[in-house]
Amino acid sequence: MPSEATKKCRFVILISGRGSNMQNIVQVIARHGLPAKVCAVIANRADAKGLPWAKEQGIPVEVVPHKDYATREQFDNVLARVVHRYQPDYILLAGFMRILTPIFIEQFKNKIINIHPSLLPLFPGLNTNQQALQAQLQWHGCTVHFVTAKLDSGPTIAQGIVPVYQNDTVDSLAQRLLAVEHKTYAQVVEWLAKGLVKLNEKGQVFVQGVRHRAIY
Ligand code: GRF
Repeated sequence: MPSEATKKCRFVILISGRGSNMQNIVQVIARHGLPAKVCAVIANRADAKGLPWAKEQGIPVEVVPHKDYATREQFDNVLARVVHRYQPDYILLAGFMRILTPIFIEQFKNKIINIHPSLLPLFPGLNTNQQALQAQLQWHGCTVHFVTAKLDSGPTIAQGIVPVYQNDTVDSLAQRLLAVEHKTYAQVVEWLAKGLVKLNEKGQVFVQGVRHRAIY
């Protein structure tokens, strides 16, 4: 058995597409020598653009195509079986575009983390950048949170914040936000790897005793 000092935090990352958050997390772990290992990258689509990159890094990749299953529950059961094989401490959703059912969530209680491109509780669901522009907000951002059965509503670990400019388009805003998403998710991964994140029974998150962490 490895000693506590050498024990690495085991992450499984779930993606559906480009995987730039996944890529950044893998790079940050290596660059900063974090006590962490990405044990697998799993996608729900064979054409997820991030898969070849993960494979090139020597990370095990798996595809569980959601289209092969008639119901969300059937898909979640198979996905859970695949994820269990890697015995993760945390499952990181990084642009994973499937809603997970309680069947999956309860098997990995308080171990699933998501990044959502809005300052939750504003704009759960899709098209968040468009909604931020339509609402004429001055600030927009992302939220890294624990996943619970209610969509985009679990306890927040950290939020990243960006300004919204008058001449912004959905694309320019999304691009500015993506850079902060990378920073915010990487920071949370570092805290998780170092065992600094605590979730209490009231659903409050503390990072080294502090709540409400914001990243700029
Ligand atoms: C990010 O904006 C994330 O917040 C959203 O999907 C996008 C994923 O980007 N859920 P990538 O696949 O990590 O590049």
